Amino acid sequence: MLKKIAFIGAGALAESLIRGFLNQNLITADRVWVTNHSNIDRLNNLERNYHVHTTRDKQLVLKGAEVVILAFKPGDTTDALESLKNLLTTDQLIISLMVGVPSSFIVSTVGLNLPIVRVMPNTSASIGLSATGIAPGQFATSRQIDVARKLFEAVGTVTEVEEPAIDVIAGLAGSGPAYLYYLAEAMQEAGVREGIPREDAARLVIQTLMGAVNLLNRSDKTAGELLREVATPGGTTEAGINALNRHQTKEAVIDCVRKAVHRAGELSVQFSR
Ligand SMILES: NC(=O)c1ccc[n+]([C@@H]2O[C@H](COP(=O)([O-])OP(=O)(O)OC[C@H]3O[C@@H](n4cnc5c(N)ncnc54)[C@H](OP(=O)(O)O)[C@@H]3O)[C@@H](O)[C@H]2O)c1
Repeated sequence: MLKKIAFIGAGALAESLIRGFLNQNLITADRVWVTNHSNIDRLNNLERNYHVHTTRDKQLVLKGAEVVILAFKPGDTTDALESLKNLLTTDQLIISLMVGVPSSFIVSTVGLNLPIVRVMPNTSASIGLSATGIAPGQFATSRQIDVARKLFEAVGTVTEVEEPAIDVIAGLAGSGPAYLYYLAEAMQEAGVREGIPREDAARLVIQTLMGAVNLLNRSDKTAGELLREVATPGGTTEAGINALNRHQTKEAVIDCVRKAVHRAGELSVQFSR
């Protein structure tokens, strides 16, 4: 078990990971240290709910930490890295969660050849079901990549890619849960408009999505094959799918992912040195 993990940033994703790591017994709460920029209430809540250590003192958070997880927003990167400059050491594994921030930017801002692994999880990590991508930076050793892999395998699946492809993982899987929530919300709304109570619609949609995703996961058939099996000619499903096709929904979904990947690329350009 790791002796100490430090979280720099205490937002939604940090909380998902803390919950996931603790639930999977990957580390005990007394070995998790968390800090943020200024929101003391947030730190108090995390301490109360998960019994982790929280403090505004970054030196205390980082001292003796084997793994440091950078969990702030890309826009806060420069300020946050400046505040960590004299506190990070090259024997710490740095896990960077920021979309669009190349490992080379962290290395040059901090001014040390830090072993960095960029990791792109999603919020399903909180229930052990993240689809996570990892991409080693220049100075990460194979042992350190393995530590990152093991950490995130405890909260879902891990796919290793070269660093430029991490943008694709960000747009596809990092943002992916939001796409499904969008679909779920639309399906629930449809159920309500067609005359059933909202709670019933919500329950039906959640179970439908869970059932379909589990079946897809367990089946040796592709999504397309399962779709064609359900959509019998002249039936109700076909009528619904025809409406999706009329609205060019497949193209819209492809464009949605493309735009998200493109946005990650735009951020990367901003952080290129
Ligand atoms: N959410 C996702 O599903 C997801 C998926 C993949 C990757 N990511 C990436 O994960 C990162 C975190 O996302 P999030 O949704 O958790 O963000 P968030 O909820 O906005 O949290 C950001 C955290 O960073 C802290 N922070 C800001 N400046 C700081 C500084 N100088 N020093 C220390 N902490 C600082 C904030 O503290 P205060 O509250 O005190 O300002 C806050 O706790 C982002 O870079 C995002 O690109 C997110």
